[in-house]
Amino acid sequence: MILIDGKKVAAELREELKGEVSQLKKQHNKIPGLTVILIGDLTPSQIYVRNKERSAKEVGLNSEVIKYPDSVEEKTVLEKIKELNVDATVSGILVQLPLPKHIDKQKVIETIDPSKDVDGFHPMNVGNLSSGYESSIPCTPLGCYLLIKKIEPNISGKKAVIVGRSNLNGKPMTQLLLKENCTVTITHSKTKDLKSECLQADIIVAAVGIPELVKGDWVKKDAIVIDVGINKTEKGIVGDVNFNEVSKKAKALTPVPGGVGPMTIACLLKNTIECFKRSQI
Ligand code: GUN
Repeated sequence: MILIDGKKVAAELREELKGEVSQLKKQHNKIPGLTVILIGDLTPSQIYVRNKERSAKEVGLNSEVIKYPDSVEEKTVLEKIKELNVDATVSGILVQLPLPKHIDKQKVIETIDPSKDVDGFHPMNVGNLSSGYESSIPCTPLGCYLLIKKIEPNISGKKAVIVGRSNLNGKPMTQLLLKENCTVTITHSKTKDLKSECLQADIIVAAVGIPELVKGDWVKKDAIVIDVGINKTEKGIVGDVNFNEVSKKAKALTPVPGGVGPMTIACLLKNTIECFKRSQI
């Protein structure tokens, strides 16, 4: 079984991006900039944002974090986004989710200029991705996609089963695999027989947030299994896949942690650089 080392692949990607940033600096006399807006004091969000900032600086990007208290008015956030939209030093804008209840997530996402939407959450980018046009691609599914391609460069005709239909992961993951000519099935909480769906898969991407849902006897021999889950349990952090069981069946499997997680941040940096490059044309 191949243990997919997301940490290593992400470090390689960051190294590549670092070279690209220094090249862009020479070429344009400017460097791409990422601005993250963090609202409130949820600990996981703070940790994610700190990691994003550190990685952005490491590859040589301009990096800024704007922090607001939980009580911030929606209007203040929207005004700030509009300011960043017209700031030429800002290539990418990310508003860390989840947001406090009084702030409308959809309004926030739709206020970000689609050309600076490094999350790929704006409806314009969602539409472009599903039409097969150029767009920002959500960072987590992009990271999963790069890991799959690393194991199996040609996945044309493979059967992929996505567990979970979120806008963040399941749906964009489907589009990426469809583009590679996979036959894709999206499963979710109302799927009749999840096990038999998974058993047909050459590739499984689990992104549902249910600890160790995907069992060893759900997986066809030599399948590629990507675990997006990060679940806190008494045992510690576990994924959506039962690692011990599935590692005996799969051809390749991502660990949690150290699989998809590091790729997400590296892909955010990649998206920021892509936004910058498109803005320079
Ligand atoms: N919160 C958890 N994951 C993400 C992500 O990919 N983007 C944003 N903006 N917030 C998140």
